[in-house]
Amino acid sequence: MEVVIVKDAKAGGELIADGIADLLRRKPDALLGVATGSTPIPIYDALTAQVRAGSVDASRARIAQLDEYVGLPAGHPESYRSTVLRQVVEPLGLPADHFMGPDGSAEDVQAACEAYDKALVDAGGVDLQILGIGTDGHIGFNEPCSSLASRTRIKTLTEQTRVDNARFFDDDIDQVPHHVITQGIGTILEARHLVLLATGEGKAEAVAQTVEGPVAALVPASALQLHPHATVVVDEAAASKL
Ligand code: GLP
Repeated sequence: MEVVIVKDAKAGGELIADGIADLLRRKPDALLGVATGSTPIPIYDALTAQVRAGSVDASRARIAQLDEYVGLPAGHPESYRSTVLRQVVEPLGLPADHFMGPDGSAEDVQAACEAYDKALVDAGGVDLQILGIGTDGHIGFNEPCSSLASRTRIKTLTEQTRVDNARFFDDDIDQVPHHVITQGIGTILEARHLVLLATGEGKAEAVAQTVEGPVAALVPASALQLHPHATVVVDEAAASKL
């Protein structure tokens, strides 16, 4: 695992966007796995700026969602589908058929999970997966104690994650769904390159356990230690317990 310490979130976003731009020059139709949350926004902003400046052509890029809430009405602004469309797909000017994600409103959620896991393989696999990290060490929505071999499946959120994410739902925890679909840890580990960005003091403990702790289901992000090509980009605050 490679750990890169940068000055701040903007620098981290620019560094990772540079890496994505390099990938797109080598492989214009690369499949980019994208995470949601506040942390990766500087990556998407920096990549969009590069595309608009003409320094990279992302018109053939394909985008794959990492996870999704279950049960939000179609088009809900805080569904991860809406979020990825707004933050990544539309700014990059990509057509809807360059975007794939799990169906959080499916009647048969289990079948939707299996279908998405298979769709990722059929698409050739994720070339570069962007990850954030939860304060409890989760990646995607793989909460502590998720199997390190898990596949895309339905999960129940911990109270901590629902509290953390209430800020996207008018600070009202009752609006935060209890259930989600997430790529499993085993699914995530199949991406060719994993890039985790963590910024801010609040992530310092989770980052230390991810990078320096044992590989453990209690800290799902520690599974990155098992991957042959994993990069962890942290700002100085998130690196403060390393
Ligand atoms: C959610 C997402 C994760 C993300 C995490 C941290 O739980 N499912 O993919 O990494 O939030 O979000 P933030 O970057 O806003 O702290």
